[in-house]
Amino acid sequence: MANVTVRQAEVADAEIIHRFSVKLAEFEGTPNAVVASIETMVRDGFGPNAAFRTLIAEIDGAPVGFATYTNQYSVWEGKGTMFLQDLWVMPEVRQQGVARALMQVLARECCSKGHSRIDRNVLDWNPARRFYENVGCRHLDRSRPYRLHGDALTKLAATEPGKGH
Ligand SMILES: CC(C)(COP(=O)(O)OP(=O)(O)OC[C@H]1O[C@@H](n2cnc3c(N)ncnc32)[C@H](O)[C@@H]1OP(=O)(O)O)[C@@H](O)C(=O)NCCC(=O)NCCS
Repeated sequence: MANVTVRQAEVADAEIIHRFSVKLAEFEGTPNAVVASIETMVRDGFGPNAAFRTLIAEIDGAPVGFATYTNQYSVWEGKGTMFLQDLWVMPEVRQQGVARALMQVLARECCSKGHSRIDRNVLDWNPARRFYENVGCRHLDRSRPYRLHGDALTKLAATEPGKGH
């Protein structure tokens, strides 16, 4: 096992967050999916009202992986929840516990804030599904993600409420 440390990202890490995000997008077969810039990551990823937060994993002080996450809320539970957005570890240091260390720190933050869970979507072909199961995640097989975006979103937004379609 490598000597992994995990810390909250600082503004100076925005370039790394951007670079790692692009690497993950390439891995997922959507190399152009990261349209955000380093500047938008600086704007939205830091400060008391950050839209997302980032954990950086390091080995010997060098960044080797990251996890980005957002806060959500369960109305039914009356508690905050967390959503893990991105998780990526450099290929050279995989299978050494880096991602597990990131998940451990995320789980600690979740519990210390009184949040009830960490949610995550995983592509069906990704062998990382085993990773999530290994750290204790359970696949919600009755739940399927849906998304309203692009033309369908703007089309629905442009219609008059109550006026049919
Ligand atoms: C998935 C990923 C983050 C795992 O990182 P990692 O640092 O190698 O994982 P760890 O070494 O902490 O592994 C923890 C456990 O999961 C298992 N595991 C890790 N990656 C796995 C994989 N691809 N397939 C099966 N099991 C895996 C490990 O064997 C280990 O099990 P153990 O704790 O019982 O020994 C890394 O492989 C990666 O960046 N993959 C490409 C990007 C990706 O798929 N990200 C997730 C998107 S949903």
